[in-house]
Amino acid sequence: MKILLIGGKGQLGTDLRRRFFEAGAEVFSPDHAALDICSEAQIEQAVEGLRPDFVVNTSAFHKVEECEKQPLRSFEVNATGPHALAKACAKYRSTLVHFSTDYVFDGKKRTPYQETDLAQPLNVYGASKLAGENLIAASAEAYFLVRTSGLYGHAGSSGKGGNFIENMLKKAAAGAQITVVDDQVLTPTATADLALAVWRLMETPNYGLYHITCEGSCSWYRFTQDIFALEKVAAELRPAATSDVPSAVQRPAYSALSKDHLRGLGIAMPAWQESLERYLKTRPAAGLRAPAHLEISPVLQ
Ligand SMILES: NC(=O)c1ccc[n+]([C@@H]2O[C@H](COP(=O)([O-])OP(=O)(O)OC[C@H]3O[C@@H](n4cnc5c(N)ncnc54)[C@H](OP(=O)(O)O)[C@@H]3O)[C@@H](O)[C@H]2O)c1
Repeated sequence: MKILLIGGKGQLGTDLRRRFFEAGAEVFSPDHAALDICSEAQIEQAVEGLRPDFVVNTSAFHKVEECEKQPLRSFEVNATGPHALAKACAKYRSTLVHFSTDYVFDGKKRTPYQETDLAQPLNVYGASKLAGENLIAASAEAYFLVRTSGLYGHAGSSGKGGNFIENMLKKAAAGAQITVVDDQVLTPTATADLALAVWRLMETPNYGLYHITCEGSCSWYRFTQDIFALEKVAAELRPAATSDVPSAVQRPAYSALSKDHLRGLGIAMPAWQESLERYLKTRPAAGLRAPAHLEISPVLQ
């Protein structure tokens, strides 16, 4: 099996690459400089040249504050780029695997969102990802569209500078007073677990839209409490309301996603607490490649 993986050096891309190699697939993963999702010519050349069975796209512009300031760039990377990819996949008969976000929802529900629930994004990032979903559905012949949430992986998110867990542990090590929002509920999801579920999905012929996150949900504050408890870190941690944290971006207050559709295929996800424990037990002691000067936001999405 031949796979073209876009964004293979990113957080999720790194775990997907490992998973594909372990499964014996032939993986081609040009970096951003060699294949820009915004270049229709580069996409056409890569898909035509390789004729892959799957094109897997993890690239995104997902710093939500930046998306608000750069809507055109957001729609280029998150919508029109994936649209060009979908058209190339249809032309050369590749199956497209693409990732979207829980931020397509407005967060007004208090029970997990189904794939069939109305998506009404609150911010530019969510709107651009939803546009990407719609353009793919309108032009790809065979595709898996995966909405996920709160990703963390050993590679760290290149688009956001590290991941939430490592950033919180760094703050605690620096003796900082840490304030984290307690009224935004989501499902933190380990990229290693997501990569395994995506691979199992790709082995099926059941194309379509899927929600894939770990099981359960928690606030960012509760997540941080568990990180510190498991790492036995004594940090000065305080809960905050979203209204106390100045931000130009609106975020959904609740974004847990139902996995009924995925479970229907016999694919199960672990509880977020179990994934967190596994991540912490296997994290590289030296930490991630986040720039040391990085200003850490209490919410990374
Ligand atoms: N992180 C989360 O919490 C989260 C939550 C929900 C959904 N998602 C979605 O999950 C997916 C993966 O997220 P992630 O955290 O793994 O992201 P990531 O670590 O930032 O990785 C993104 C990868 O895409 C590459 N890339 C960025 N812009 C590109 C472009 N224009 N052309 C080609 N490559 C480009 C990046 O390369 P460079 O670094 O060299 O630019 C990087 O390798 C994204 O679609 C995201 O929207 C993420």
